[in-house]
Amino acid sequence: MTRGFVHSPSPTRVVFGAGTVAAVAEEVRRLGGSRVLLLARPRHAERVAAALGDLVVAQFDGARMHTPVEVTAQALDVLKSAAADCVVAVGGGSTTGLAKALAVRTGVPQVILPTTYAGSEVTPVLGETENGRKTTRRSPDILPETVIYDVDLTVELPVPTTVTSAVNALAHAVEALYSPEANPVTDAVAVQAIHGITHSLPLVTADPSDVDARAELLESAWLAGSLMAQVSMGLHHKLCHQLGGQFDLPHAETHTVMLPQVMAYKEKESPEALAKVADALDVPDAAAAVYDLVHSLGGPTSLRDLGLAESSLDDIEPASVLRAAWEGTRPEGAPDLSALTAQVIASFDETPSPRLKQLITDLVRHLHHFAVHNDLTEDEWLFAIDFLTRTGQISDDKRKEFVLLSDTLGVSSVVDALTNSRSPLTTPSAVLGPFYVEGPPAMEHGADISGGLDGDPLWVSTQIVDVDGKAVPGAVVDVWQANKDGFYDVQLPEVDGPVLRARFVADDEGRLTFWTTLPREYPVPEDGPVGQMLQGANRHPYRAPHVHFMIMAPNYHKLVTQLFVEGGAYMDSDTVFGVKNGLIVDFPKAQGEPPAGRAVGPDGWHRLDYTFRIGR
Ligand code: BEZ
Ligand code: FE
Repeated sequence: MTRGFVHSPSPTRVVFGAGTVAAVAEEVRRLGGSRVLLLARPRHAERVAAALGDLVVAQFDGARMHTPVEVTAQALDVLKSAAADCVVAVGGGSTTGLAKALAVRTGVPQVILPTTYAGSEVTPVLGETENGRKTTRRSPDILPETVIYDVDLTVELPVPTTVTSAVNALAHAVEALYSPEANPVTDAVAVQAIHGITHSLPLVTADPSDVDARAELLESAWLAGSLMAQVSMGLHHKLCHQLGGQFDLPHAETHTVMLPQVMAYKEKESPEALAKVADALDVPDAAAAVYDLVHSLGGPTSLRDLGLAESSLDDIEPASVLRAAWEGTRPEGAPDLSALTAQVIASFDETPSPRLKQLITDLVRHLHHFAVHNDLTEDEWLFAIDFLTRTGQISDDKRKEFVLLSDTLGVSSVVDALTNSRSPLTTPSAVLGPFYVEGPPAMEHGADISGGLDGDPLWVSTQIVDVDGKAVPGAVVDVWQANKDGFYDVQLPEVDGPVLRARFVADDEGRLTFWTTLPREYPVPEDGPVGQMLQGANRHPYRAPHVHFMIMAPNYHKLVTQLFVEGGAYMDSDTVFGVKNGLIVDFPKAQGEPPAGRAVGPDGWHRLDYTFRIGR
């Protein structure tokens, strides 16, 4: 269904970086301000006051949680008596709330320097309390004109506050994904914010002075906060608001406890949105993963621990969510196995070869991820082990079932491409395959390599050149292929000795020619575990028709490749994924007298003309 939406980007100017406090005076002047009321706790006041210089005409440090109107009244007096024309606020949600309360009453422009991750600096929303009652209003006048994010101001935020404040930010991004007003921009911003917050938060808690991690967290929190100005928040915010208002629970801690529980509840209602969260976190169960994250970072997980009496739950819906949040139950989902994975990876710490260590630990990581991501069952894993065991049991010097497995899973082609097809200037490579035999018979130019086997005659004329188009004389070229029925000589009991395989030496112009027969499609062996896999997946076992070439010249990279018959069978579904655009060649029907005195039947003959480019 087409999703309709309205998008109106926020007009707030955002300055982000390290040391950006220095820009505060310029930002004030930009807004036409010359007399600043500075709202700040003493901890940050000095730094910002110094940057503002003589623009500061008054200071107020009495901001309180939930923005009580009596505090606003005091600050308003200060603002008026100092004739301030701009408010600069440095601090968390309370200080920002006070700046907004002043702005909505007087119209003064605001410059906010946040020191937490809560995001209220980018919203047009103001929550105030009067006589213990909380009211919330929304207006464009409330939205700050300028926000200066200076990561240096966040470095000292204590770890517990960092965690709860960051989870508060996470909640904005999560709720944006299932908001009815969500649009492509808010979706993308939310996913980016979720990824950034969950990536950086563990780094920050491990080393609170890690400025890079702090910067990622701050940037992500800004993105998350900005979503609140774009789309409406949902059940999570409603519940947190209700709990905060009714029971005076601490704001960020309540968010931290509630988020995973609300996510688990929303899983049924908005599975697509929760799937996006899970993708951003790269986990199977988003709610359980957020719970585990909070738990692992020492954040609060139960309302009981926040001091809420059990009887308080009675009138709040949905009851199941509140009960789980009160008890701090982990949402259902895959267990958190990250410590196990880390332990296995650490067991390879002493691997002497750095490359081996890299490969094996990354393999462990991917295997664990594969198991977790697919919720792998014991039966499935035992089947896989049995499959590999059978693959080994059928293998010997001639029957290379593991190679065939690698081929049919496309891994051989991936590794081949990574190793041998890195330059666009040379002919693409293709897998060697199991039918190459060392030391093929040497043949003269123009010879027939088919050994008299039946098939449509094919005249091959090729040249070997370098990347500049210069001939490579003396290049050694091995060729091998299947017959008209799709069999190699080694598969034909009646054939004695090598046929349809030969070695040529290119002439002074790098050229060589020979007669053979038109290759046909053929199946890979189907009587082993790989065949069962192909059958089980309704995959055919065929290779597209091709001729193999191996080209060797001193000081050049060896080129192993195949040329495919344009218009041949299975070109789009070669079972070992060897077909590449540059290797599909016309093998047209030829006109006129066949070369080298070859007699041909009434069906005539084909030709293949091709230039191989090899590199040093
Ligand atoms: C081949 O082209 O000879 C081949 C390559 C991979 C698997 C089986 C056959
Ligand atoms: Fe082949």
